[in-house]
Amino acid sequence: MTIQKEVSLKSFNTFGLESHAALFMEVHSIAEMQSIITSETFKNNEVMILGGGSNILLTRDFNGLVIRNQIAGIEIISEDEDHVFVKVGGGEVWHEFVLHAIDHNWGGIENLSLIPGTVGAAPMQNIGAYGIEIKEVFESLTAVDLKTGETRLFNKQECQFGYRESIFKLEVKGQYFIADVTFKLTKSNHKINTSYGAIKDVLNERGISNPTIKDVSDAVISIRQSKLPDPKEIGNSGSFFKNPTIDKIDYEGLKIEFPDIPGYVVSDNEVKVPAGWLIEQCGWKGLKRGEIGVHKNQALVLVNYGGGKGNDIADLSKEIQQSVIDKFGIELTPEVNFI
Ligand code: EPU
Repeated sequence: MTIQKEVSLKSFNTFGLESHAALFMEVHSIAEMQSIITSETFKNNEVMILGGGSNILLTRDFNGLVIRNQIAGIEIISEDEDHVFVKVGGGEVWHEFVLHAIDHNWGGIENLSLIPGTVGAAPMQNIGAYGIEIKEVFESLTAVDLKTGETRLFNKQECQFGYRESIFKLEVKGQYFIADVTFKLTKSNHKINTSYGAIKDVLNERGISNPTIKDVSDAVISIRQSKLPDPKEIGNSGSFFKNPTIDKIDYEGLKIEFPDIPGYVVSDNEVKVPAGWLIEQCGWKGLKRGEIGVHKNQALVLVNYGGGKGNDIADLSKEIQQSVIDKFGIELTPEVNFI
């Protein structure tokens, strides 16, 4: 294993922010990870595990050891008539795995096309889009305990998935390295999910009434490309904030003052409100402030046009949060992890 010094993380975070890691290494297997954990370098340094870098805001140089998960492999573990159980290395690129699944006619993740990041990072925040969350196809994962080096299998229940949440962001935060993830995908009788209005619209435009998983994936790709900036062109990390859930009573109060406020009922007394709408109403959409700003097509996405600084994005995010509190009394929580 090779440890590099003073490595730029610019190409390893989708915001494209400049930041240096004092020490940096890539890991290709569980065994390699286990041997690092027992090393002096590991014990004596602050450690950061990096996947695709699509959910972090780097506000400083990292004066410790960055470990990039590069564990590869897509392997069928077992199958029955209708399902396939596929184990995927945590370092695999999420969207490439989605395309692989579609090529093999494995259904269940087509709605999650084009989400940036890696397979290992996907369960951390239970990635979701267009009516599907990863928990619906999740079977289990192998994690390496960063204290002992032992492996532990987590089943779905143990992961405690919630909206952009899992146990890995809560109780056991920072304690495990996710080595591989096993998914349960359909081989036949795919559960096509076109519940999201925009998917229906694209399929209609294309004259498709009986969509395949490939049709759904293509529709999702075109929706995402029309709304969300490509990190290769404009640095960003997708939604910067979560969509807040508020009490129904508060929602009804807001509806009187702001009759257009959108909301999706999530339980008997809770409503989820699109953060993008709240931010747009506060006038932020399309803002350019030096090298950073708020995306013109989706106010939930903060962007780095080039040489922006993580701290400036962090400051902007705080201003946005404050303005949403001032106008609506709603607190936005970042989806992105600040480093
Ligand atoms: N909206 C606005 N202005 C905006 C953006 C959104 O008014 O600038 C309103 C519109 O009313 C729109 C509604 O918000 O109908 C929902 O917008 P959109 O369909 O773009 O979805 P979202 O709620 O903003 C969430 C996820 C996305 C995911 C999409 C599609 C979160 C935090 N974000 O965004 O996930 O792709 O739904 O399912 O839940 C991500 O997590 O990085 C991400 C991109």
